[in-house]
Amino acid sequence: AASDPDLVERARAAKAALGDRVFILGHHYQRDEVIEFADVTGDSFKLARDAAARPEAEYIVFCGVHFMAESADILTGPAQQVILPDLAAGCSMADMATAEQVAECWDVLTDAGIADVTVPVSYMNSSADIKAFTGKHGGTICTSSNAERALEWAFEQGQKVLFLPDQHLGRNTAVREMGLSLDDCVLYNPHKPNGGLTEQQLRDAKMILWRGHCSVHGRFSLDSVNDVRARIPGVTVLVHPECKHEVVSAADMVGSTEYIIKALDAAEPGSKWAIGTELNLVRRLAKAHPDKEVVFLDRAVCFCSTMNRIDLPHLVWALESLVEGRVPNVITVDPETEKYAKAALDRMLALP
Ligand code: 13P
Ligand code: SF4
Repeated sequence: AASDPDLVERARAAKAALGDRVFILGHHYQRDEVIEFADVTGDSFKLARDAAARPEAEYIVFCGVHFMAESADILTGPAQQVILPDLAAGCSMADMATAEQVAECWDVLTDAGIADVTVPVSYMNSSADIKAFTGKHGGTICTSSNAERALEWAFEQGQKVLFLPDQHLGRNTAVREMGLSLDDCVLYNPHKPNGGLTEQQLRDAKMILWRGHCSVHGRFSLDSVNDVRARIPGVTVLVHPECKHEVVSAADMVGSTEYIIKALDAAEPGSKWAIGTELNLVRRLAKAHPDKEVVFLDRAVCFCSTMNRIDLPHLVWALESLVEGRVPNVITVDPETEKYAKAALDRMLALP
């Protein structure tokens, strides 16, 4: 639907009034009406790197979800304030690993005698607490665009990896990129005593995968892939690595949102694509490439409901509040958590 012209005008006016004092970041899964006002768009890695790109901006308005705003707060200067236009924009995957659960898991690994040879690798899609845990235990953060390099690094540091919280990214990267087998991976269930694993299973495993997943990418199935191949002969299936292993295995190409965008940019006119990622991005790609056939991998619609919480009314409210001298919805990470979380994020940013 077209955006309300009055709101568009108000967003434009507020942004112009703030000038260089505000820097607006937008994740690729954001609505078009929000992306239109972003100074920078990107995947989680690019946004983490770019968050610190405008040290002169007092306010960083983060159009994305809570864990991204926290990371931006950690990576930007103390004088800069990070604003999330709707505090309810969380991530169900990030919520699947709490600090208490992860501390308990580390105790389980310690009891099994493997904690000192295990390196935590945490997906960007995790709370600042989990990033701090990762930093404290010598691990790194990764995103879907550098998970392979992060795992390579981690296996140089230790014999095992505890991968948090997305089992699919962990498994897909280990099996597709690192040459590990499915049997090298075990699934740690935080809702079961000892993660539902025996000490022997933990000692035998190379990858200990946390039982978390993305509810958006988790909806694509092998049927979605078979279906689209039957419907569109010659289609290239391109999916995000947060999809299940069977979906990734059946796909032709796999990569982060930034990778997906670049693949479409490089594609031949007339080529056919089925994309397995969030729908705002897929619709934008279809619009941007009228010379190619670009379809959503599944028949059902599949937005990320929390990403979608940031809409034009929330963005206008945040910007107009700033113009009026109020700073709403500031995301702050406490200094102790920040110190360790930053160590883990810096390690990621320094990966070759
Ligand atoms: P990327 O932007 O890193 O591809 O991550 C996708 C995602 O699910 C963000 O929440
Ligand atoms: Fe979280 Fe999935 Fe939404 Fe990304 S797409 S914010 S991982 S729920």
